[in-house]
Amino acid sequence: MKSITIQQPGTLVIEERPQIKPQPGEVRIRVTSAGICGSDIHIYRGHNPFAKYPRVIGHEFFGQIDATGEGVDASRIGERVVGDPVVSCGHCYPCSVGRPNVCTQLQVIGVHRDGGFSEYVTLPAKNAYVVPDSIPDNEATMVEPFTIAANICNQMNPGPLDTALIYGAGPMGLTTIQVLRGVYGVKEILVADRIDERLAMAQANGAHRIINNANRELKAELEASGIRPTLIIDAACHPSILPEAISLASPAARIGIMGFSSDPCVLNQQSITSKELTIYSSRLNSKRFPQVISWMAEQKIRPEKLITHQFAYTQVTEAMEIFEKDQQRCCKVLLKF
Ligand code: NAI
Ligand code: MN
Ligand code: ZN
Repeated sequence: MKSITIQQPGTLVIEERPQIKPQPGEVRIRVTSAGICGSDIHIYRGHNPFAKYPRVIGHEFFGQIDATGEGVDASRIGERVVGDPVVSCGHCYPCSVGRPNVCTQLQVIGVHRDGGFSEYVTLPAKNAYVVPDSIPDNEATMVEPFTIAANICNQMNPGPLDTALIYGAGPMGLTTIQVLRGVYGVKEILVADRIDERLAMAQANGAHRIINNANRELKAELEASGIRPTLIIDAACHPSILPEAISLASPAARIGIMGFSSDPCVLNQQSITSKELTIYSSRLNSKRFPQVISWMAEQKIRPEKLITHQFAYTQVTEAMEIFEKDQQRCCKVLLKF
């Protein structure tokens, strides 16, 4: 089988690997479509502290089950499925309280173990979720990125009374906007980014108001319009954002962070406690696949709006380069196998 492997930081190859077999409790997926994510680039560039090399990357993948391991019903062969990259132990403390995404033995497919940028991938049978025929292949490939938004929104419980502020209009910001508006019915969504083309995408994905904070100060802009956000999500993930979000937030607001920067950011207790703010963090997803699949089936979210490019897997180097360099025009890039 052909697999896209990062042999060591900076070296990407399409290599011939021996066909993999599903282990007991696993299924094998014949991958037909996969999405490129920022974290694939981080592994490629050597910026992911969890990655071990060589690694087949890719954690956003769709295909058909073509083989089952011991203990898995062979009737699953032929199912159209998306793979949840979160592989958890099922019995540690986080697993036992419904948070397998932070399992003490967490294995992320495409990071800790070989992933979906490959003609075939194996994974636990329970991680392969059936997609209804009404959802086309490309859209189905977008389930995983939407589970990130689903996970943070599930924690923050947005509602019609909220005035939401989203930092960042990349794939994560855009999926979050769609979920806030289409699923939770938030009436006022403001989005800040530094790239006008991305802000235009934010608008196309449901933002009510966009602000380019490269040349205008967000605080002054919001104060001038008397806006105090009640729900803030940092989908840009720069360490300077959390302190700013705390100062902009309404009393009783919730703030959600998703970043992995190890740089410090300076906060003081008073700024949080005086407004009794709640700060949430979210990593990957805790069994959010069924929820996102039903949102897609009900057309509450529109994954096709995020897909800007599609390439044959043989053009992966070009695809990764466009994804990395052309933030103006590029959102989700799919590889076809
Ligand atoms: P991206 O890089 O495509 O988008 C980030 C956007 O934020 C860009 O459009 C950029 O112009 C904008 N931005 C940067 N600094 C800003 C600032 N100070 N104010 C406003 N906008 C600013 O990245 P993508 O794929 O959308 O992911 C966003 C972040 O989410 C990444 O840092 C990634 O590591 C993180 N992430 C976290 C996950 C989790 O489970 N916690 C999962 C996936 C991504
Ligand atoms: Mn991703
Ligand atoms: Zn566990």
